[in-house]
Amino acid sequence: MQVDVLLGLQWGDEGKGKIVDVFCPKYDLIARFQGGPNAGHTLEFDNKKFVLNTIPSGIFNEGTLNLIGSGVVIDPIILKRELDNLRTAGFDPVGKGTLVLARKAHLILPTHQLLDAASESKMGAGKIGSTLKGIGPTYMDKTGRNGLRVGDTTLPDFKERYEKLKAKHLEILSHYGEIPDFTEKEEAFLQAIEFIKSIPHVDAEHLVNNYLKEGKRVLAEGAQGTLLDVDFGSYPFVTSSNTTTAGACTGLGIAPNKIGSVYGIFKAYATRVGGGPFPTELHDETGEKLRQLGHEFGATTGRARRTGWIDIPALKYAIMLNGVTELIMMKADVLDTFEKIYVCTHYKYNGEVIDYMPYEIITNTAEPVLEEVQGWNQDITGIRSKDEIPAALASYIAYLEKALEVPIKYLSVGPDRVQTIEL
Ligand code: GDP
Ligand code: IMO
Ligand code: MG
Repeated sequence: MQVDVLLGLQWGDEGKGKIVDVFCPKYDLIARFQGGPNAGHTLEFDNKKFVLNTIPSGIFNEGTLNLIGSGVVIDPIILKRELDNLRTAGFDPVGKGTLVLARKAHLILPTHQLLDAASESKMGAGKIGSTLKGIGPTYMDKTGRNGLRVGDTTLPDFKERYEKLKAKHLEILSHYGEIPDFTEKEEAFLQAIEFIKSIPHVDAEHLVNNYLKEGKRVLAEGAQGTLLDVDFGSYPFVTSSNTTTAGACTGLGIAPNKIGSVYGIFKAYATRVGGGPFPTELHDETGEKLRQLGHEFGATTGRARRTGWIDIPALKYAIMLNGVTELIMMKADVLDTFEKIYVCTHYKYNGEVIDYMPYEIITNTAEPVLEEVQGWNQDITGIRSKDEIPAALASYIAYLEKALEVPIKYLSVGPDRVQTIEL
């Protein structure tokens, strides 16, 4: 068996959570492989809405095991809160044994968040627009070989290790200025550490590979989006992990030849939250219309998302990096009232017309070349089958498939589980 991967092809918030929830009955294991609580994955079903930050989106399906993989960074306070919220809503993954944690996943400390905030506040106008969840500093400690991991929490000297890393952080923080009081946060952290000991810790690379050997089906759930990848995104306006298919290999301990289908998910338009280049961004009332109709406000931070038209060169880049085999188009319904839709096919860059994302688009703008497409001008939120798709939407899908050279296999016409059409 091979591991299928589902990941975002834009700047995050494509609707990954919704689709993992739709797909999970077909899988025995859903595994998050990177990122942390900077993610906000929204699921809607039976008039209920949930936002998950660390927990994989397969958690509502009885027969599916959910793994928080080695490549993820975990904030124990947030994880505990997510589980408390689920329990209040009548779901108890810990009691049911449907959630396990990779021993090798790194822990976000309260002082990692202070470092994130201190670093961002010093950057002024050039700031990344981080979610300030401590993601960057935690991955820095991971690659700097200082980090604390889930497996360390059960060691007798865990507290000493924690104090040692905290002391290092306080030393760095003292150079930024006054250190905010974090006594309460620290207490909550230490309590949450005790709590996460009650969730099974696993050697995730063995678990995943054994599942494959036994013929079980595994889906890797990405967080963020390809254009936020630390190596290939719009650096430095990126997150601190590999959000691509390669990240599923390193984050779960699976070999590249074990990758099966790669589902690339994208919105029928584009959004970005935080700083950084966004060639097709709209600063006018059309951008505002997309934001309002698409409810484009962050699931984690509530920040207004920047909006714009779909960007073919950026999508083609993401498809290449990930080896996408099947596409999923989300939020088509948001365009229901648009007379005309626009597609960025090329960029004007340094006086030339190019069809790829150039290296430097931060100080040097890539101006989008837009092509007009006819809108469908009808409410599609109620359609449930391929045959009901309006002709203009079918043309938009065909147009994108031709340009992207990968089939669009699913269409999402609303936030609810049932508003998903197989093409
Ligand atoms: P994720 O981070 O990729 O899981 O995406 P988010 O949950 O951050 O953002 C996607 C938002 O769009 C959520 O509020 C979803 O409920 C919503 N959503 C998902 N699919 C659709 C869709 O097809 N149409 C509409 N209107 N909303 C959708
Ligand atoms: P999901 O999984 C959208 C963005 C932040 C910021 C940059 C770095 O819900 O799609 P970080 O907190 O990692 O230091 O922030 O990345 N960002 C996201 N944008 N969706 C996300 O996750 C994001 N996670 C991080 O806004 O620009
Ligand atoms: Mg999100």
